[in-house]
Amino acid sequence: MSATNYPNVFMLRQTNQLLGLYTIIRDRNTKRGDFVFYSDRIMRLLVEEGLNQLPVKPTTVKTSQGHEVEGFSFEGKICGVSIIRAGESMEQGLRDCCRSVRIGKILIQRDEETAQPKLFYSKLPDDISERYVFLLDPMLATGGSAMMAVDVLLKKGVKQERILFLNLLAAPEGIEAFYKKYPNVKIITGVIDQGLDENKFVVPGLGDFGDRYYCI
Ligand code: PRP
Repeated sequence: MSATNYPNVFMLRQTNQLLGLYTIIRDRNTKRGDFVFYSDRIMRLLVEEGLNQLPVKPTTVKTSQGHEVEGFSFEGKICGVSIIRAGESMEQGLRDCCRSVRIGKILIQRDEETAQPKLFYSKLPDDISERYVFLLDPMLATGGSAMMAVDVLLKKGVKQERILFLNLLAAPEGIEAFYKKYPNVKIITGVIDQGLDENKFVVPGLGDFGDRYYCI
C-alpha cells in the first residue's frame, strides 16, 4: 500500500504490474474484452487490499500432524454494496474472494448536464448495520455519488468505521470532498489522477467506465 496525504485513504502499491494494467485500460484502442479482463484484475487487487484492512482475532488450530499453530481468523461479517451501474462490475471480484457474500445495490446516477448525483433505488441486507461494508464503485470524480451512497448506509445504521470504499480511479477533488465529509470511511483506490475537467470528468482518466465495461 502507498501512503497518501489522508490517514484513511490508501492507494495500491504502484508496482510495474499495476502500472501496466492501468496503461492497458486507459488506452482508447483497448477493445472491450481486454478492458473487462484487465479491469477485473485490478478490481481483484482492490478487494484483496480491502480484506487486508479487516480486523482479525487470535485463534489456535491443530495441523494434521497434531501440531498447534497460533494464527488468526477474521472478525465480523462483511457484505458488498455496489453503486449501479459501474459498481456492479466489481461484484465478481468480491465473490471470487468471499464465497456467497451478500450484496446490496444502490442506484445513483450522475446527471450528465449538472454532474449532480441522484438516488433512484436501494436494496440492502437487513442486518447491514452489523457488517463491514465493501462499497463498490470504480470511479470517484466529484465524490458526489459515493457520498450519497455513504449517506444511505449511515441511515441504515452502518458505522463510518465499518465502511471500506473500493475504487479503481479517483480525482483528488473527489478524495478531498469525501474525506472532509467522512474522515472515518476507508478509501482504497488504485490510482489518484491529476484532476477534473470542466465537465467533471477525471483527467487523464480512462473514459466512461460503465460504457467501456458494458457497452462499447
Ligand atoms: C459514474 C461513476 C460513478 C460516478 C462518479 O457513474 O461510475 O458512480 O459517475 O462521479 P462522481 O464522483 O462525480 O459522482 P454514472 O452516474 O455515470 O453511472 P454509470 O455507473 O451508469 O456509468
